Amino acid sequence: MPIPDGTSYNAYLVHGANKTALIDTVEAKFGVGLLRDIADIERLDYIVIQHTEQDHSGTLPLLLDKYSQAYIVTTSKGQTLLQQWFDLPLGRFIVVKDGDRLDLGDRTLVFYTMPWVHWPDTMVTYLPEERTLFTCDLFGAHLASSDLFAEDNDHTLEATKHYYAVIMQPFRSHIGKYLDRIAALDVGLIAPSHGPVFRDVESILDAYHSWVADPPKNKVVLPFVTMHDSTLAMVEILTEELMQRGVSVQPFDLTAPDINRLAEALVDAATIVIGSPLVLGGAHPNVLYAAHLANYLKPKARFAAVIGSLGWGGKMVEQLVEILSDVKLEFLEPVLCKGIPREKERAALATLAETIAEKHKGIEDYSL
Ligand code: FEO
Repeated sequence: MPIPDGTSYNAYLVHGANKTALIDTVEAKFGVGLLRDIADIERLDYIVIQHTEQDHSGTLPLLLDKYSQAYIVTTSKGQTLLQQWFDLPLGRFIVVKDGDRLDLGDRTLVFYTMPWVHWPDTMVTYLPEERTLFTCDLFGAHLASSDLFAEDNDHTLEATKHYYAVIMQPFRSHIGKYLDRIAALDVGLIAPSHGPVFRDVESILDAYHSWVADPPKNKVVLPFVTMHDSTLAMVEILTEELMQRGVSVQPFDLTAPDINRLAEALVDAATIVIGSPLVLGGAHPNVLYAAHLANYLKPKARFAAVIGSLGWGGKMVEQLVEILSDVKLEFLEPVLCKGIPREKERAALATLAETIAEKHKGIEDYSL
């Protein structure tokens, strides 16, 4: 995932009257900075690992060396995965289950397991006395900002949506259920481990609700590559035909793809149309890459089609259907043309546009 805005690795220190806990650590190469930031903390009792990916657990060995009395608090799966990355003494683990509480004195940590956000180990931590929910990757954004709190602006929302699109999108059915659990808590602050902290909890929950929710929108995402402009001509004809039928179209030239934007476009499109010339018997390599990406992200799209030009034969359509096999797609009649599109192919593209528009009307409550 490109991170043009940088990122942050957030670790949170919670002081109770009796105990002190650190929630998450940071990427190993930033460990010196973390140790500097908490240099005045003489005793650390707990290091909560909400998710074991190394950008949050990488500094754990360093912290365990410095704070020899500290226990690692994590899920059972978290313990297993941590042992895969590091050799840690089992006696230093406290394994927690869903709903377990840790008393720090006048503050309490409550753990809610939420597996597959985006690894099987994940949990979030609720601090009821501060109405704060620590969520690690969930609600995160790759956005390095001098502001601790999220600014109410489009850029923050865009970075958060890019993060959702690339990292969380494949797990939206799990996340949908977890959003309901979170909504039932009294939360005034959402503190992820990447990007800014959210004070406007309702807005970020609403945004996530809209991203995970079905149905998809009356929209076609159209990633394509063209070599001699024949496929481009087909993309333009299809785009025009779809626009005339009130269907929103988002074309993507895959020559230099912006993966964040392509993943974002896939969040709510009802149809994916892939445009490619035939290259050595199959789709263009950039198209294959985009198709694999779409298959990994498992977007909520319901329909797909392949369009493109060729000089002679090949199996591009079969190849793309197979690559996209993990997405539940109904493939519509492809439109392939030898050389440049002529009347016959123009008519076929108009028919494809008509079919897509009709299919979208069949999706209940679709909206632009
Ligand atoms: Fe930020 Fe899944 O690590």
